[in-house]
Amino acid sequence: MSRLFRRKSLAELQAEGARSGLRRTLGAWELTALGIGAIIGAGIFATVGTAAAGDAARPGAGPGIVLSFVLTAAVCGLAALCYAELAAMVPISGSAYTYAYVGLGELVAWIIGWDLIIEYAVGNVAVAISWSGYFCELLRGLGLEVPRWLATDLRTALSSPEILAGAPHLGGIPIVFNLPAAGIVLLLTWVLVYGIRESSRLNIAMVVVKLGVLVFFVAVGCFYVQPENWTPFLPNGFHGVWAGAAIVFFAYIGFDAVSTAAEETRDPGRNMPRGIIGSLAISTAVYVVVAVVLTGMVPWFDLHTAEPLAVAMNRYSLGWAAGIVAVGSVAANTAVLLVFQLGQPRIFFSMSRDGLLPPVFAKVHPKHRTPHVATIITGLAVAAFASFANIEEMVDLTNIGTLFAFAIVSAGVIFLRASEPDAPRPFRVPFVPFLPLLSMAACLFLAAGLPWVTWLRFAGWLGLGLLIYVLYGRRHSALAK
Ligand code: ALA
Repeated sequence: MSRLFRRKSLAELQAEGARSGLRRTLGAWELTALGIGAIIGAGIFATVGTAAAGDAARPGAGPGIVLSFVLTAAVCGLAALCYAELAAMVPISGSAYTYAYVGLGELVAWIIGWDLIIEYAVGNVAVAISWSGYFCELLRGLGLEVPRWLATDLRTALSSPEILAGAPHLGGIPIVFNLPAAGIVLLLTWVLVYGIRESSRLNIAMVVVKLGVLVFFVAVGCFYVQPENWTPFLPNGFHGVWAGAAIVFFAYIGFDAVSTAAEETRDPGRNMPRGIIGSLAISTAVYVVVAVVLTGMVPWFDLHTAEPLAVAMNRYSLGWAAGIVAVGSVAANTAVLLVFQLGQPRIFFSMSRDGLLPPVFAKVHPKHRTPHVATIITGLAVAAFASFANIEEMVDLTNIGTLFAFAIVSAGVIFLRASEPDAPRPFRVPFVPFLPLLSMAACLFLAAGLPWVTWLRFAGWLGLGLLIYVLYGRRHSALAK
């Protein structure tokens, strides 16, 4: 039993970090930009539509989506404080997986590592689908129509006789898939194997584009706001706001990814908290303003679309503006895809180095110095799912998995305060254990707003992970040797 809770020592990890040889160059501004690079993507450009309008499984928030954004920001703020304490204290690149290994032991670390696949890989399936939607929108603007059978998910295709009829048939079976979504993932995988240095400058350029396009959306859109669209403000009461919050949570995912740059940060004790909390604060401000304008432009019940910002512009025959929004979205989603497609193999890499995954995941390319096998496996899997999956289902699954990781990180703060009371903590969460407990409760509250089928899928995923741990990780763990 005690084997399941064997822990890595803090001193050992800090020494590992000191030895890693990565250059500590990033400051508070670069980290904030890195956070915004990972945060602003499909969430605001796509899923906000479902959150406002609702779908078969839940009520929409209506114009009250603005409150959903504020509520979710508060939940993320609590988790961000917990991430800030641990990232400043354990400035090692493994993020939640590493914190769990020191704070809560091997079994929980494995579960978190397994769970992060949902945040990174499944999250990227959703972002790739959103990328595809806006990319097709962009081509349409240029007069090129992508056939619907070539850019659709299976669920949509099966419910649309029109798409099925237009598709080519093989042995009587219609062929439908999402070619652009799979294609962009494979393209980025190829780039990542060749070892793109995720240069902070490139990221800053992407951040300027996405912020610029959202400011453009607000600046143009505010002239087309019809105030009557804001009433009723809460068409489905608080239930709609809550269900909306559980969806738009997706838009905030990414501030936690800042912590993976801890080994490359100057004075992490000071700059980590600033980068994590700063990127969250700026994104929140942008989201609230965009949501106010969007729901003012389009009646909330017309927003159930994967390209809501472009739809809003097209509603007023602003095709050129819809084109600019589409360009911004494609750029934003590419940046998000890149960050997470880069992060996932590195988590596999750490887990493999610890013996919890087979050694092949820790293989480094002799020439390009990248974890190429893990990168290719991740790329193929994400591309395969992106070619048929439905974006809403992927977003729900990503959200529950990430909320679970946030809750464990919050618990890690409490456990580490008890087990390592004297370790230096450059940043301290106030009111421990109350604030981390509140954070855990808040994550649970948001997750409870997700459909039951999402909970079922998540439970299945964790069950599969436990099985793999019992059959493999438990025996091969480096700590066991
Ligand atoms: N927060 C990221 C997005 O909205 C995952 O795309």
